[in-house]
Amino acid sequence: MKIAVVGATGMVGEVMLKVLAERNFPVTELLLVASERSVGKKLTFKNKEYTVIGLADAVAAKPQIAIFSAGGDTSLQWAPKFAEAGTTVVDNSSAWRMDPTKKLIVPEINAHELTKDDKIIANPNCSTIQMVLALSQLHKKYKMKRVVVSTYQSVSGTGVKAVKQLENEIAGIEGEMAYPYPISRNVLPHCDTFLENGYTKEEMKLAREPQKIFNDKTFSVTATAVRVPTSGGHSEAVNVQFENDFDLADVRQIISDTPGVVLQDNTATNSYPMPMFAHDKDEVFVGRLRRDESQPNTLNMWIVADNLRKGAATNAIQIGEYLIANNLV
Ligand SMILES: NC(=O)c1ccc[n+]([C@@H]2O[C@H](COP(=O)([O-])OP(=O)(O)OC[C@H]3O[C@@H](n4cnc5c(N)ncnc54)[C@H](OP(=O)(O)O)[C@@H]3O)[C@@H](O)[C@H]2O)c1
Repeated sequence: MKIAVVGATGMVGEVMLKVLAERNFPVTELLLVASERSVGKKLTFKNKEYTVIGLADAVAAKPQIAIFSAGGDTSLQWAPKFAEAGTTVVDNSSAWRMDPTKKLIVPEINAHELTKDDKIIANPNCSTIQMVLALSQLHKKYKMKRVVVSTYQSVSGTGVKAVKQLENEIAGIEGEMAYPYPISRNVLPHCDTFLENGYTKEEMKLAREPQKIFNDKTFSVTATAVRVPTSGGHSEAVNVQFENDFDLADVRQIISDTPGVVLQDNTATNSYPMPMFAHDKDEVFVGRLRRDESQPNTLNMWIVADNLRKGAATNAIQIGEYLIANNLV
């Protein structure tokens, strides 16, 4: 497979290369692509050095799959050009997610919807992926009615510039700011930009993407997205009201049996998910399971995952693996 990684010099791009190597993705030719600023730069994949190229050269090389993590504008402008050249694009930005002509895929949930005609495939938002995966089998059995989620998102979710801001602040160095306020020793109720309705874009992604992934508009989601000074890993406090009553032991079993999800829930041993445990892992970790005693059929849970892995690179690469395994590219 001739594979292009667009945004190879970025936070997600770096993890993308790591995950491609770890999973032995069948790469026969690799094109590492970034902005004109990075053209000529050297990157290493499986002990081999590669020179970063620009987007036009990458389109001309006609890769079978291009995995994009280079921001929404780059995707809007370039993904159609790759698609026209016959390349299947898996896009990590928000550019195509809510486009009704594009599919929004979490492989464990809805990869079966993919066909050969899907030339631009959207990867959901990192906070969405971990939440829907943890809820997927519970939804099947008990039917979700309403989800209230509050996120605790790491600075790596914003990209290189934000990680640098946190590192500078910890080291007492003045530098470029990714956020309007300091993030070290602070918490910002502000992920992505504000919209007319008072929510942030990130909050609206969490509200809308799950319905599309489950192909189900019978439940609703409301979100508060918060940036915290962790370097990697997103956490979420999720309150989910089901149509039907549940049995907590059964909920635990269902979560344990959900592919890609790990139950980490034993208060007697202080066992619960945390970003430090999720770091560099592909799974989504779930714990603090308890019945919401304030209303019927409602569950509280805590969900953590590595946003650069299952939240971005791993999910995109799993889509690629599915395409190859099913002869869709
Ligand atoms: N971070 C996460 O947890 C996460 C999760 C899911 C999805 N995403 C999405 O993934 C994308 C990248 O995120 P990131 O965190 O990796 O950001 P990042 O660290 O800032 O990296 C951005 C990458 O995009 C490239 N790029 C920027 N402008 C470009 C252009 N005009 N043409 C070609 N390449 C360009 C950059 O190349 P240069 O080095 O040359 O500037 C760099 O490789 C975003 O769309 C983001 O929404 C991120």
